[in-house]
Amino acid sequence: MNRKRLIVGASGASGTPLLIEVLKSIREDPTWESTLIMTDGAKLTASYETDLTLQEIYALADHVLEPEAIDAGPASGSYRTAGMLVVPCSMKTAAGIHSGYADNLLLRAADVTLKEGRPLVLCARESPLSAIHLRNLYELAMIPGVRIIPPMLTYYHDPKSIEEMAAHTAAKLLEPFGIEKRGYRRWQEVRDA
Ligand SMILES: Cc1cc2nc3c(=O)[nH]c(=O)nc-3n(C[C@H](O)[C@H](O)[C@H](O)COP(=O)(O)O)c2cc1C
Repeated sequence: MNRKRLIVGASGASGTPLLIEVLKSIREDPTWESTLIMTDGAKLTASYETDLTLQEIYALADHVLEPEAIDAGPASGSYRTAGMLVVPCSMKTAAGIHSGYADNLLLRAADVTLKEGRPLVLCARESPLSAIHLRNLYELAMIPGVRIIPPMLTYYHDPKSIEEMAAHTAAKLLEPFGIEKRGYRRWQEVRDA
């Protein structure tokens, strides 16, 4: 069986636990596989935000590519994918995608995703957001296929822990690709329970 391939980019915004949750969820679905690209910023942030080593994070992905590998598969439209998710997405990476400044493999893969008209989901995270951040995100959101899904807190599903809150956000990030995260309770299901 040919599995659907999702490129998962991680940049240096806060949110390593979300990346981990997303990779675990893709792993649980036998119809999908992940190609992980972590920027140097993502690796640094991860060192503050998880007890997992970089190798342990890599082990959660099916394929791992380094950001310097600008000649790797995702640098070309001929690398077939069902789209790309950037989690977390820093304001620097959002700016790079916005301007087409593709100087690492993550940015190039996002650039290719856009030029090929494939879905691109950005888990953009910063606080507060400046006018520059908002302008970049707004203009990105206007491109067909681009979804800005920031890691916003939600309470309506009655999360009992920060892990449950993160799992809910991870489910929302995977939803646009049709990946159903186990245990995800949408508002309607919560309301009707
Ligand atoms: C612990 C830590 C947390 C950070 N959180 C954010 C953040 O939430 N949003 C953001 O835009 N940048 C954040 N940064 C700054 C980025 O990591 C920095 O701008 C970096 O150059 C981004 O590069 P990249 O997009 O290539 O990974 C953080 C940095 C550190 C060390």
